[in-house]
Amino acid sequence: MRTSSRTIFVSTTALLLRSTITTPANAFALTTPPVIPASSSTSSIRRTTTTTPQQYHNNRINNLRALRPLSSSSSPFHPFSTFTKSLFNMMMMSSSPDYSSRKAEYQLADKEVLMEQLKNSETIVLDVRTEAEIAADGKFSPSHLQYRHVPCTPTDASNLTMQAATLIPSQTTPIIVYCKSGRRASTAQKALNELGYNHVFNAGGFGDIQDMKL
Ligand SMILES: *[C@@H]1O[C@H](CO)[C@@H](O)[C@H](O)[C@H]1NC(C)=O
Repeated sequence: MRTSSRTIFVSTTALLLRSTITTPANAFALTTPPVIPASSSTSSIRRTTTTTPQQYHNNRINNLRALRPLSSSSSPFHPFSTFTKSLFNMMMMSSSPDYSSRKAEYQLADKEVLMEQLKNSETIVLDVRTEAEIAADGKFSPSHLQYRHVPCTPTDASNLTMQAATLIPSQTTPIIVYCKSGRRASTAQKALNELGYNHVFNAGGFGDIQDMKL
């Protein structure tokens, strides 16, 4: 165990040293910090940390993975890999901290997916809040996208159902729908899906979408 700890310490040192050798490319590697096992830290931490043999093995494997050459484009941690870019985007687009819990509850769309749809000039933004909320909080209506407003409640999207064919002629048009939390938008999304609209994305609340930079 003592020898193995030293091995990990050497690996970790090599890793830290390598990250100080900065080339423009691997500067981005710092956005995905490698897993450093607790057992490789100071001796006081080592004494108080219990690591099972399996955890130790996994930590060691993770460390070795993190040490793979960054120039290998097959690495998920390559600076320009899709994975790394996704992580970076998620960090940049982090919104209200409860987005992930509402995401599960109201089937909110991935931020990345929303970003893609917002770049599409065909996309229609559908606001299902009340007039009063819009007057008080403002609205999300980027100049390059069409904006629609039909108030819905958490249980009633009937006005939307009635007006949909007029407001959104094509069922393949991407629609980004939002309210205040994503709840009413979820009801609206289901109503639209039932009408055959199959590119409907729930962006959650105005607070979630207003910060999205295009
Ligand atoms: C539907 O529209 C009518 C007329 O504008 C309005 O009075 C009613 O409150 C709306 N229903 C909902 C659920 O928003």
